[in-house]
Amino acid sequence: MCGIVGYTGNRNAITVLLDGLKALEYRGYDSAGIAYRTCNRIEVVKASGKIVNLEKKLNPNMHSNVGIGHTRWATHGKPNEVNSHPHRMGKFTIVHNGIIENYEVLKKLLVKSGYKFKTETDSEVIAGLLDKLYSEKNDVLKVIVELKKLLIGSYALGIICDDIPDKIYAVRKDSPLIIGVNDDESFIASDVPAILKYTNKYIILNDNEIAEIGRSVNVYNDNLDIVNKEVLTFEGNLEVAEKNGYEHFMLKEIHEQPEVIKNTTAPFLKFGLESLTENMPDFSKYDKIDIIGCGSAYHAGLVGKCLIEKYGNIPVNAFVASEYRYQKIFADEKTLVILISQSGETADTLACLRKVHDMGINTLAIVNVVGSSLAREADKVIYIKAGPEISVATTKAYLAQITILSLMALNIGYNKKLISESKALEIIDSYEKLPNFISEMIDKDYKDIAKSLYDKDNCFYIGRGIDYALSMEGSLKLKEISYIVSCAYAAGELKHGTISLIEDGTNVIAIVTDKNIADKTIGNIKEVKSRGAVISLITTEQIDDNFDVDYKVVMPTLNDFISPMVCAIPLQLISYETAKLRGCDIDKPKNLAKSVTVE
Ligand code: F6R
Repeated sequence: MCGIVGYTGNRNAITVLLDGLKALEYRGYDSAGIAYRTCNRIEVVKASGKIVNLEKKLNPNMHSNVGIGHTRWATHGKPNEVNSHPHRMGKFTIVHNGIIENYEVLKKLLVKSGYKFKTETDSEVIAGLLDKLYSEKNDVLKVIVELKKLLIGSYALGIICDDIPDKIYAVRKDSPLIIGVNDDESFIASDVPAILKYTNKYIILNDNEIAEIGRSVNVYNDNLDIVNKEVLTFEGNLEVAEKNGYEHFMLKEIHEQPEVIKNTTAPFLKFGLESLTENMPDFSKYDKIDIIGCGSAYHAGLVGKCLIEKYGNIPVNAFVASEYRYQKIFADEKTLVILISQSGETADTLACLRKVHDMGINTLAIVNVVGSSLAREADKVIYIKAGPEISVATTKAYLAQITILSLMALNIGYNKKLISESKALEIIDSYEKLPNFISEMIDKDYKDIAKSLYDKDNCFYIGRGIDYALSMEGSLKLKEISYIVSCAYAAGELKHGTISLIEDGTNVIAIVTDKNIADKTIGNIKEVKSRGAVISLITTEQIDDNFDVDYKVVMPTLNDFISPMVCAIPLQLISYETAKLRGCDIDKPKNLAKSVTVE
């Protein structure tokens, strides 16, 4: 996620901006830049890569009292120096965090008015629009009110206007922004860590509010009436601030998921079924799909297999990348190979991409990190827009991956006329409600299940069909962060061997969300229960029945397209709470790395 910082006051703004950007490094970034006023001019300095690269380009003798800075995490356009912020057009220089969904339309309008664009970003249009509106209105606050009417999407903005020497302007919608306050100086930032070296007093800018920031701060509503704001005091240290008050990055990332899903789905839902089709590859030319990934990305592929086969009526196989790269591959020009990876740098997945490329097979990468190797080398790429994931165990990236695969199943089924238009629109509508269902599941309490589990040596997950695919991810999450030996089984397989391990007190987590095969799994639950197993059941309101289990998590009854994302939440939080009770290093489990770039 991009990071924003801004300063106006008596200190050297360049030093304050660099300190702020360094404190925001934990958010992840691929380039950085600052703009500062000096000798009545605005200087913009940018560099790709780490902040030290930016530091090297700055003149150490330069002094400034006003500036804005940015760390970029690419969403539109390559992660390079040109695309990095700040962006400048006419009299305006801006930094932006968020996504402008209608930037292409706005860009066309500005090009017609004679504006020339240098970057591939969605953000550059904001500087152009501000300049154009200012040439008509000549009042920055009124211009920002007009700007807000034109932008669709999310934004936190830091703005400098050439004509107003000592002020920064800020506005936000669905992207975080705070204003740091101190005697005779003010700051803006995406997050408290960026200002903590200088002040712990801050104001939260709410959606749609506009701030005029000089030595003092004024916040306005849309009518440009002053809004009275409370000045808050941050009591924690830098580490607490980086985690936004959460005890671990994993918990923070779990809580980010409702917002992530809005970003992931936004381009596909913008204009209903039209944008769904526009943003997906043309699947009509394929009669088979292979999905490749490692760990959780492979598990996401298994969820995709269930949905795409059921609703798209096309054979799908999911493979572990480290196996696929060495096995005989049955694929031709009618096969699409989909490679899933959060980092886009996983060695085995990348090797599979190169292998199938050499065979002339079409590839599609589903990736989080923009400009990563997989994204660059695949024929097509879909970005999941989950933002940087810091916890080693993936949560929000996995959720965004299965969301893309579910949208893909809908797209294929609808275009093959297997799903009617009215049904497809109903499903589209359900994705809009998905963030709320996810929030509801996050708010539930999983501590009792964790207490039943944390002192055990092993645990089994069971499910059928898509519930089995979800079980595999739940089981991986538990073992990797709590170190409890955990296995996932297709529920019907138990009695072919594994049931011999079930004894008094053995923990079994059963997932039963698919109504069509619920009775079969319930039968398997009864078999293990009668042998003494402690059962934690994850099920839906529709299936919830009076059979005997020890713990129950009941989720709403939802359509097949959004149900898996809601079901993933209890699995994440059961693992988290269990690992916490065991005192594990949750964000950095032993022996694991976030990006596995070796075979
Ligand atoms: C598990 C986990 C790993 C990754 C796997 C693939 O929580 O994070 O299993 O899913 O290492 O990584 P990417 O998605 O970066 O290819």
